[in-house]
Amino acid sequence: MITLLDGRAIGYDDVGSGLPVLFLHGFPHNRSLWSPQLGALAAPARTMAMDLRGFGESAPGEAGGVEGYADDAAALLDYLSIERAVIVGLSMGGYATLAFWRRHRARVRALVLCDTRATPDAAAAQATRLEMQALVRERGSMAVANQMISGMVGRTTREKNPELVDELHRMMSLAPVQGVVDALDALRLRPDSTPTLGDIDVPTLIVVGDEDVLTPPKDARSMHLAIAGSRLEVIAGAGHVSNMERPAAFNHVLSEFLVSLTAQ
Ligand code: MLT
Repeated sequence: MITLLDGRAIGYDDVGSGLPVLFLHGFPHNRSLWSPQLGALAAPARTMAMDLRGFGESAPGEAGGVEGYADDAAALLDYLSIERAVIVGLSMGGYATLAFWRRHRARVRALVLCDTRATPDAAAAQATRLEMQALVRERGSMAVANQMISGMVGRTTREKNPELVDELHRMMSLAPVQGVVDALDALRLRPDSTPTLGDIDVPTLIVVGDEDVLTPPKDARSMHLAIAGSRLEVIAGAGHVSNMERPAAFNHVLSEFLVSLTAQ
């Protein structure tokens, strides 16, 4: 589906009924990243996935950093008349989820931080973002997909599930150039979310693939230690997109977490 928020197109899917759960994808993905989750959780949930601005069917708009992504998510909840939701973010979507917490915490029922980290880019990573901006401007998103695909999935997926690697590569190579350029600024300039972790006081689930090389398990453990009462689940045989690589295991831990919320 596509709606206009503030005159800007936002692509989203909205499947099922029950506890509202909004999914935010990573870089340079689109909302189809969450196809294995939408409508497929054992917990009764209204599962919604949106394209972040500049990706999929969402128009680029102004470059607004991770805060802009968070504000779009809040605007979509307004549009759908949802007061509070579980916010699930993977990688860049996790950075946006932490920004959502800072800016819209009254709207958060619980947080799920997948294959992500709280720390900002170090100088070397910032330089790599600028190089990637030059690459995408010169050679398009296919070149970015070629560069990123091997780190995007774990060793097990690379060896055993080449179809998934192809599917992800296709998704990444279709990312609109402007969205990629703006997202690289959002990634490069994102704030340090480490101080944010200490004031998270809603139930939080942290999920990471044990073969994730982009945001490795040690980053997930640091967040787990810093967020009081958080739960950490490590998915065996999955890399950076654990929700696609081991969908049954991912859906199981997410469903269990959602059921624990409705039982409270
Ligand atoms: C992502 O998957 O969103 C990116 O790998 C995040 C990053 O590069 O920091």
